[in-house]
Amino acid sequence: MAQLWGGRFTKETDKLVYNFNASISFDQKFYKQDIQGSIAHVCMLGKQGILTKEEMQDIVRTLDEICKDVESGKLKITDEYEDIHSFVEANLIDRLGDTGKKLHTGRSRNDQVALDMRLYTRLEVLYTDELVRDLLQELLKIMEENTETIMPGFTHLQKAQPVTLAHHVGAYFEMFKRDRSRLHDIYNRMNYCPLGAGALAGTTYPLDREYTASLLGFEGPTLNSMDSVSDRDYVIEFLSALSTIMMHLSRFCEEIIIWNSNEYQFVEIDDAYSTGSSIMPQKKNPDIAELVRGKTGRVYGALMSILTTMKGIPLAYNKDMQEDKELTFDAIDTVKGCLALFTGMISTMKFNKEVMSKSARHGFTNATDAADYLVNHGVPFRDAHGIVGRIVLYCIDKGIAIDDMSLDELKAISPVFEEDIYDAISMDTCVNKRLTIGAPSKEAMMQVIAIEKEYLAHD
Ligand code: ARG
Repeated sequence: MAQLWGGRFTKETDKLVYNFNASISFDQKFYKQDIQGSIAHVCMLGKQGILTKEEMQDIVRTLDEICKDVESGKLKITDEYEDIHSFVEANLIDRLGDTGKKLHTGRSRNDQVALDMRLYTRLEVLYTDELVRDLLQELLKIMEENTETIMPGFTHLQKAQPVTLAHHVGAYFEMFKRDRSRLHDIYNRMNYCPLGAGALAGTTYPLDREYTASLLGFEGPTLNSMDSVSDRDYVIEFLSALSTIMMHLSRFCEEIIIWNSNEYQFVEIDDAYSTGSSIMPQKKNPDIAELVRGKTGRVYGALMSILTTMKGIPLAYNKDMQEDKELTFDAIDTVKGCLALFTGMISTMKFNKEVMSKSARHGFTNATDAADYLVNHGVPFRDAHGIVGRIVLYCIDKGIAIDDMSLDELKAISPVFEEDIYDAISMDTCVNKRLTIGAPSKEAMMQVIAIEKEYLAHD
């Protein structure tokens, strides 16, 4: 049991208590950030004359060595230490003796762990952003290739109006684009350095907090030492953004599972991203999409857990906050894994364009346009709605589409119809007459694609 305290204790910690309290099994994940923070702290102590130049250099060099040794596997992080902070400091002291004991001057584990978590999370925000960006690239590619691929658009999972695959996928492009913008906001808001806050009330040493902050790439130091050690808003914000990403992925997965079903056959998931059944030889299951949908729950769980943990904590640091780590790490790894797999799955997925367009043609998706035709010929919309309703009923009875009706049949229901009705309700017209920005026509989509291309080129 190696711990950084004990002077005022007369008894050994109970073994169960020690294990319950220890965090090394999970906070070793940010050993690099812990060392990075310590190096910045020591450089600042040296600059301020709190440590001599030689002490500073010795500590920095040795911390670097410890980092390399852990990386190479030469030095193992074991549970004989209470946490990663104790591990690094104990190893430093082993290697440097008394000079090593000066590392923690003007610092508490409270501001240290606040820094480590922030550095770790900040980096993961960037990694996540990169993965969302990769996904957007893939979506844009699908959009560019499918501005003419007609498919039914749905409401209530009932065929509604024809759209294109580019338009449908474009909806997800917007969702994931907003996700990136959320990540950028979080990055900017969290990018302040808590180091120097001490246990809660700053320190009496002449620390240069601006300097430490700039060494670690922060905008500046945080402005209240009590808030600095007890703020985990950025964790909550990140988990909230991750939850939203998962919600978007999960919706998309749900659609892909439906599209990939035997009944729809709009898409075929590649063999490399499908799994078989141990009993039914014919099966090819969309397990990856289902798993991504399923894993959404654990990411939401992490968000709920930390929100709940934080809600009753009085200022400033309390040990409850150690609970911020495991679920956050798990959520980050989960989302990154899901993003990478999802991008791989859709980039190899086959779209059955014929099936999609046939489905659009056979679901009365042009009924609104048939009503609009009547409106354009002077029929009030409500009457037009009723007329087309009767037409649909007639078609259902006969098992045909509106386009299959003869002009005589149409005229029997409303004399307003003329030969040009067929062109007015063709799938191509239904889609390509919708010209306002955001609508599915090829013309409108091309404008959007140009905007999104520009966005990806610069962001
Ligand atoms: N393992 C602790 C955590 O994750 C580090 C901070 C410990 N500070 C303390 N005063 N016990 O929060």
